[in-house]
Amino acid sequence: MSGADRERWDQRYAGLGVAPQGIEPLPVFEHCEDLFPTSGTALEIACGRGRGAVWLASRGMTVLASDVSPVAIELAEEHATASDVADRCEFAVWDLDDGLPPSEPVDLVLCHLFREADVDQAMIDRLVPGGLLAIACLSEVGHGPGSFRAKPGELTTAFAALDMLDAGEADGHAWFVGRR
Ligand SMILES: C[S@@+](CC[C@H](N)C(=O)[O-])C[C@H]1O[C@@H](n2cnc3c(N)ncnc32)[C@H](O)[C@@H]1O
Repeated sequence: MSGADRERWDQRYAGLGVAPQGIEPLPVFEHCEDLFPTSGTALEIACGRGRGAVWLASRGMTVLASDVSPVAIELAEEHATASDVADRCEFAVWDLDDGLPPSEPVDLVLCHLFREADVDQAMIDRLVPGGLLAIACLSEVGHGPGSFRAKPGELTTAFAALDMLDAGEADGHAWFVGRR
C-alpha cells in the first residue's frame, strides 16, 4: 500500500477514536455465531480498531490481528485492554501487500470488510485441517458495481476448496464461512 493510502486510513481512524465499549459479534456473522470456535488460535487480517479480534478473544480464542494502519493498531490495543482481553490479543502493523503476517497455522482466519483476492490462497493455507475461514466484504449484489466490491459469486468461487457452512450476498454485502 502506498504511504498516501496508509496516511488516509490513519487519519480516518484518528478521527474515529477507540471503538465503542462493549463486545458484540460482527453483525454479518451474528446469525451463525455458533460456528465460530471458543478456543484455539485466530488470525484476523485488516482488523481496523479490533472489533472482530476483541469479539473472538472474548469467546476464548487467542488472536493475532493485523492492519496496515499504526493508528488503527493502537486503537485496537486500547479496545482490547478496555475489554479485559488484552492478554489474549496480539496486534501488529502489517501490509497485506507482503502476504499474510507470519504465524503458525490457526483454527480461524477472519477477514471483515476487506477484499484482496491476492491473499485468498494464503488464508486457506494458514488454516489447520478443520479450521474455519470467515470472510465478509462489500458486494455488487444489491448495490451495483464499485471498487472493493465482490462480484456475484466471487467468494463461493474463491473459497470453493473449503466446505461451505454459511454464505450469502445481499444488500451490498457478501459473506462466506467455510471449513478446511
Ligand atoms: C473497511 S476497514 C475494515 C476494518 C475492520 N476489519 C472492521 O471491520 O472494522 C478496512 C481495513 O483494511 C485495512 N487495509 C487496507 N489495505 C491494507 C493492506 N494492504 N494491508 C493491511 N491492511 C489494509 C485498513 O487500514 C482498514 O483498517
